Amino acid sequence: MDLFFKKLDPLKILKTRLELFSFLSPFRSFRQKIGLVPTMGALHSGHLSLIERAKHESDVVVCSIFVNPTQFNDPHDLEKYPRSIEKDIELLKGVYCDALFLPDLTEIYPDNEVKWEIDLEGLDKHLEGAVRPGHYQGVTQVVKILFDIVSPNFAFFGQKDYQQVLVINKMIDKLKMNVKVVMCPTMREKDGLAMSSRNIHLSEVERKNALALYSALTLAQNIIANKSIHQTIEEVTNYLRTSEGIDLEYFQLCDGLTLEPASSKHNIKLIALVAARLGRTRLIDNIILN
Ligand code: PAJ
Repeated sequence: MDLFFKKLDPLKILKTRLELFSFLSPFRSFRQKIGLVPTMGALHSGHLSLIERAKHESDVVVCSIFVNPTQFNDPHDLEKYPRSIEKDIELLKGVYCDALFLPDLTEIYPDNEVKWEIDLEGLDKHLEGAVRPGHYQGVTQVVKILFDIVSPNFAFFGQKDYQQVLVINKMIDKLKMNVKVVMCPTMREKDGLAMSSRNIHLSEVERKNALALYSALTLAQNIIANKSIHQTIEEVTNYLRTSEGIDLEYFQLCDGLTLEPASSKHNIKLIALVAARLGRTRLIDNIILN
């Protein structure tokens, strides 16, 4: 049996549900742990860190690449979403990912069936959900389909999209799904900018200006011990509003479990979250404060 698993090709590319099912069947029969890393491609070291973590915690790792139209509320954003499949495949081989699930639109949404609604108990209404209405309905829709197809034991998501992790956990709870979500730390460039597929849209000047997001989060981290929630928000927001090239959408200190605005620093997981536009590129970031 060991020989069978060891002799796997470096990366299997599977385009249909059936191919994926056949690939995973022997693993399932032998109760091997399946890890899933859902992505929309344009892979960078942040994505690869999820795959590396998945390799540690599972016997077989499936990465999916699917640019999910139902989570984009701006058609222009969907159209210009970066796509680099050849490079992605090389990167996946480089981290010894076992399988890439690369479905087309009809494989995920047969018959154009795109109806979906789940009550996320308000979690999808704050922050990103408020700025991008319907976004988390689209995210949960596609993640539910991927979970159904792959039936993973573990699914790996980045803290970079903190609200997404909460929303997916909420869906798992509500639908009583048998998947454990593992939240992995945000990978950053050397200067602190959170890695993101969207960073390639930044001009040289925007890239430099974007550093203010991470500086704002570390400022919050540095001052929170000696200031109130209100003072911290005010000081950091002022910093961001006066930073060159930053069009601030929100800076918030929230309860890390509910994402309600934090009212006290004590007895809660406190998280600072920021979203801003730099020219036409929208970036988000966050930091856990305690
Ligand atoms: P995508 O933006 O491609 O991100 C895929 C995964 O990579 C997410 O879990 C995201 O949080 C994680 N990630 C992105 N940047 C990261 C970084 N700098 N460090 C660590 N992890 C990082 O998130 C999505 O795709 C989609 O919404 C998806 C879940 C695939 C559903 O379509």
